[in-house]
Amino acid sequence: MNKFYEDVKYGLSSNPKRLYSKYFYDKIGDALFQQLMHSPDYYLSKCELEILQLQSTSIAQDINIEFDEFDLVELGAGDASKSIFLLQALLDNGSDFTYYPVDISQNVIELLEAKLPKLLPSIKIKGLNGEYIAMLEQLAKHGSRPKLILFLGSNIGNMNLDEAALFCEKVRDLMNPGDLFFIGFDLKKNPFTILTAYNDRAGLTRDFNLNLLRRINKELSGNFYLDAFYHYPNYDPISGACKSHLISAKDQEVTIGEGTDRFSIQFKQHEAVFMEISKKYSIEEIEELALNTGFKITNHFLDSKKWFADSLWRKD
Ligand code: AVI
Repeated sequence: MNKFYEDVKYGLSSNPKRLYSKYFYDKIGDALFQQLMHSPDYYLSKCELEILQLQSTSIAQDINIEFDEFDLVELGAGDASKSIFLLQALLDNGSDFTYYPVDISQNVIELLEAKLPKLLPSIKIKGLNGEYIAMLEQLAKHGSRPKLILFLGSNIGNMNLDEAALFCEKVRDLMNPGDLFFIGFDLKKNPFTILTAYNDRAGLTRDFNLNLLRRINKELSGNFYLDAFYHYPNYDPISGACKSHLISAKDQEVTIGEGTDRFSIQFKQHEAVFMEISKKYSIEEIEELALNTGFKITNHFLDSKKWFADSLWRKD
């Protein structure tokens, strides 16, 4: 059976039960996330867009102090709607770089390769379809130029602190001294603002979470009844962990899989399934993470509300 099946079986057999948010992004999940990024309650994308729209010239200057011939790798590039401002500023500075957008979706890569040269005619682009670390390993083997790695969008927030540190260490091991890492962090702020982003009035985050049950039904022959689960997010302002759960509204049994792969799971009324962490950082925590994983901070770029930080790190 495939990895999705194994992860679902393992997660739902664990105590407490859990599912993995990396599986949110099928076609419907991608569309829901796009809608969420435009919703007034989900502030993250707007704050980071403001940073890149207004400060890309300064960011590009900081990068060009280190090097002006390099490989630019973007982990989880999506539609590059934010990074395009930085790409433009680097091209304006006369930087000589190749842009390597990395994405798990071949469709995303093909769209970018078709769209970006129309918007930035002098861009050199080579999409990489695969997992982040595997693609970085591939580039480390073949590339000899300095590297700038982008990891925007608070994607690092979907890891807990230990996982984030491990990830930064893995990335660091694939970088050379002097290479740069540019990471987007959602900052700690009014807890109600954060909670509203994950409990938006239009119910998009709820649908985004429930869509994973729909995906299990469709791809793994599950029989989840979506109305029997509801979305419950909570935010702990001390740890900065915003956690999403689906709660079982009643005692129920769900079966997943077919033939000898078929298994069933019992849910108690009020039982929670942990779906996703979206960790929020203080500047001190960002600096500690950089230091503990072998990086020096070059600069932090914050939006005007100080709700989001794009932080530029250098490997020593
Ligand atoms: C992709 N990631 C940074 C989003 C976040 O804010 O954690 C995913 C998301 N989950 C619920 N809403 C958005």
